[in-house]
Amino acid sequence: MDKLVIRGGRRLSGTVAASGSKNSSLPVIAATLLCGNGTFVLHNIPDLQDIKTFTQLLQHLGAETTFSDNTMTISTEKVKSVQAPYELVKKMRASIYVLGPMLARFGTARVSLPGGCAFGPRPIDLHLMAMEKLGARITIETGYIDASMDGGKLRGAHIEFPVTSVGATGNAVMAAVLAEGMTTIGNAAAEPEIETLCRFLKAMGANIKGIGTTELKIKGTSSLEAVEFHNIFDRIEAGTLLAAAAITGGEITVNGVIPEQLKAVLKKFVHAGCTIETSENSVTLKSPEILVPTDVVAKPYPSFPTDMQAQWIALMTRADGTSHITDKIYHERFNHIPELNRLGAHIEIRKNQAVVHGLRKLSGTKVMSTDLRASASLVIAGLVAEGTTEVLRVYHLDRGYEKIEVKLNSLGADIKREQYKEFE
Ligand code: UD1
Repeated sequence: MDKLVIRGGRRLSGTVAASGSKNSSLPVIAATLLCGNGTFVLHNIPDLQDIKTFTQLLQHLGAETTFSDNTMTISTEKVKSVQAPYELVKKMRASIYVLGPMLARFGTARVSLPGGCAFGPRPIDLHLMAMEKLGARITIETGYIDASMDGGKLRGAHIEFPVTSVGATGNAVMAAVLAEGMTTIGNAAAEPEIETLCRFLKAMGANIKGIGTTELKIKGTSSLEAVEFHNIFDRIEAGTLLAAAAITGGEITVNGVIPEQLKAVLKKFVHAGCTIETSENSVTLKSPEILVPTDVVAKPYPSFPTDMQAQWIALMTRADGTSHITDKIYHERFNHIPELNRLGAHIEIRKNQAVVHGLRKLSGTKVMSTDLRASASLVIAGLVAEGTTEVLRVYHLDRGYEKIEVKLNSLGADIKREQYKEFE
């Protein structure tokens, strides 16, 4: 296993490029299952463990794929199996994304139930509700979801989500594009990753209106075609790099991002005292002398993202006062807090809110986490902790950050990747 050894106290400066978005790549790759002719060419796909895991799942189903220089080709012509087995699904919850497209193309799908998650319960009831609304019969037995259509086709319907779900919206849209008639989706997720999926489906020939809004209208079609597509950049990676710069008192430019997609986050950086400048596809952040404590509430897009909550908490450990960080999406997503406190932070958890008492001295030690963004928050804290911080179990970071230590070192950080044994 790898660990990151961070020597803190270096100010970050310079320019860095964001990578392709992981969370849009996954549904886009899943959507290739909808079309059995031709070869898709997908650009700006990040070289990440989660993408490899998801590609393995598609290969297991019969897809042929290549990957080189962040470009993926996929042909799903030979896909025959409609079973996503536990061994692959357990590695990544987003595997549920194959349910909608497989059901729409083959009229049947069998997907293992995803297991638990490091930050609390993550049900899939809304995915199943959407498939049932579209006419699927769903049974759950022996740990598998069995979805079938009796050989017929899915039928358009109105789907109203009681809570906003990125994954369930993605699955519903992918199923609806091949359903007979009109589907309307209310309270859809408007996240840029779902917008990107919709634009991809549209390029394939799907008829979708309301893209990027919470009301989607989809007129089913019977044929889609393989296309070439450019994926968006990763707004969460960009936000993480900005937080890393801000905690060190640095000044950096992140290229590739669409600032609009980071609006809520950039607003908070400004409140925290940072100067932000944007161009069409870059953000420059200049840190203040002292960070101002800044509350955030993580909610669905366009609000502050839950995937930036952990990094924001790390940043606020260096603010001059107390800040409150509330997560309204995942109420228990706080497993980074005990570890940040081990570095010397003073953070309390009150229900779904973290109360961060800033400006305590951080000093390096061994820390680890069991989820991706929590691990990112430990790296951010390590950048300013006195001495050496070792972030263990780096495979969580590698799931979602492409070459994170290479990028941070190019900005002036001192991070080494080393091998370690769990009980060294
Ligand atoms: C996606 C992102 C994840 C992000 C999350 C919220 C990917 C691969 N992952 O996850 O990084 O943190 O959006 O922005 O894109 N819910 C239900 N029933 C369901 C589905 C969800 O109750 O069937 C609830 C969840 O428990 C949660 C909320 O809805 O409280 C939002 O979850 P959702 O948007 O579905 O998250 P994911 O798509 O799994």
